[in-house]
Amino acid sequence: MEVKADYAKFYEVEADALVVTIYEGEKADEGALKELDERTNGIISEMLATDEMRGKQGDTVFIYRPGNIRAKRLLLIGAGKREEMNFDTIRKVAGTATRFLRSKGARSMATLRRSHLDLERSVQAFVEGALMGLFEPDMYKTENKEERRIDEIIIVTSAEGAEDALARGVERGHIIAEAVNLARELSNEPSSTLTPTELAERAREVASRYALDIDVLDEARMKELGMGALLGVARGSDEPAKMIVLRYEPEGAEPMGNDAEVIAIVGKGITFDTGGISIKPAENMEKMKYDMSGAAATLAAMQAIAQLKPRVNVIGVMPTAENMPSGRAYKPGDVLRAMSGKTIEVINTDAEGRLILADAITYARKLGATKIIDLATLTGAVSIALGPFNVGIMGNDEAFIAELRQAAKEVGERFWQLPMDDDYKELIKSDIADIKNSGGRYAGTITAAWFLRHFAEETTWAHLDIAGTAWENDRKPYMAKGPTGVAIRTLINYVCNHAAK
Ligand code: BES
Ligand code: MN
Ligand code: ZN
Repeated sequence: MEVKADYAKFYEVEADALVVTIYEGEKADEGALKELDERTNGIISEMLATDEMRGKQGDTVFIYRPGNIRAKRLLLIGAGKREEMNFDTIRKVAGTATRFLRSKGARSMATLRRSHLDLERSVQAFVEGALMGLFEPDMYKTENKEERRIDEIIIVTSAEGAEDALARGVERGHIIAEAVNLARELSNEPSSTLTPTELAERAREVASRYALDIDVLDEARMKELGMGALLGVARGSDEPAKMIVLRYEPEGAEPMGNDAEVIAIVGKGITFDTGGISIKPAENMEKMKYDMSGAAATLAAMQAIAQLKPRVNVIGVMPTAENMPSGRAYKPGDVLRAMSGKTIEVINTDAEGRLILADAITYARKLGATKIIDLATLTGAVSIALGPFNVGIMGNDEAFIAELRQAAKEVGERFWQLPMDDDYKELIKSDIADIKNSGGRYAGTITAAWFLRHFAEETTWAHLDIAGTAWENDRKPYMAKGPTGVAIRTLINYVCNHAAK
């Protein structure tokens, strides 16, 4: 898909469709809308007087051969309140427009720039919204597969001379959206093809394409390192576990090791979660192929970081395994010894994510991480607390959490902090070992975070529970249903913000 600027008048631009956003309560009495109204013989003003287009987000009106404009069709899209307009509005408008127009067979679209938000960031948001919007999780379809493409997007603007800003926005938008879509593709893939071994292969491909260092630990090396928690989970499966480590060391940053700042992104990579011996009910179990969305997000963020080149060291750690019941599987009552030396009583083999993350967090610290962000489809309880709308964030450092929430806000993602009072910690005390892997029904998301906190120890750490947000069950006008790639844009933004400081 090519994105370019055009400085002509909007009615002179040639395209299959011209997209114009409409704000809530707007009238066609000034500026571009007035001009558009005149050229369409009053269609706009007449329509705005009806309920068909009130400018609400999601409203769309499509007009064929709308009169005296060069584009073949006109697509009006509601953008909500003008004063609430932000980059996320742009992303949603772009997603809605591209999905809608693709379904009508349009190949090229022109879009009239109507906001005064920063050009570079607006273009970036538009490209992100368009590419994320066009993603379809249909790689296994042989019928009704979406084969149509939008080849060209033309941004109609009067900001002449802003070519550089435009080109930068287009490039960043591409890099980020492609990373998000890579993760969505991986989350969608069945566990029979996307095994831990295959995930490691995919990571190798990314590493070699974008010049990242990679190290894949096999079970023998994990055993040497004493990763008993991860290996405990992996024992029930015939698929060998892997610990995938990606390393990004930019020129100009302090080399890792010498007290340098190292941000670690640690993502849960359970390629399928049956629950193990504490087996899950059959209903919805097929969804548990996306239990590696944290690892996918880690790989995606590392891919984008390798291209955006912020000046800070970043490592991506992806513990990956399959959680299966079998004659060799770990069982409730077992005690595992984690790499850090802590002993863990297994109460429920379905609380496996925290076990593999425990060793991954310890390993990240050993590699010199000074800040750790882990992300995981960790608890069903986070959906009960926050629904499919907010990522749950917790951690051991309020300033760090605040920075991450700010980074999320800037890219239009919603993170909500849950408390970590010491009282919650009591719930995972074990009678026979240092801690247990399940604290029962109360505050399941927080006790899971407390479990991880025992392994982060003194290192600045935050945890993102994406179990409620990594999969969208409702189709949106701007996005297909299925894997969302949540938190990736926040991670990239956080790392870039941090490096720019
Ligand atoms: N992968 C699940 C969490 C999950 C549930 C993700 C639903 C996405 C949708 C995790 O491994 C799990 O099973 N957690 C248990 C923990 C409990 C046994 C303490 C849960 O949330 O029920
Ligand atoms: Mn589980
Ligand atoms: Zn799981």
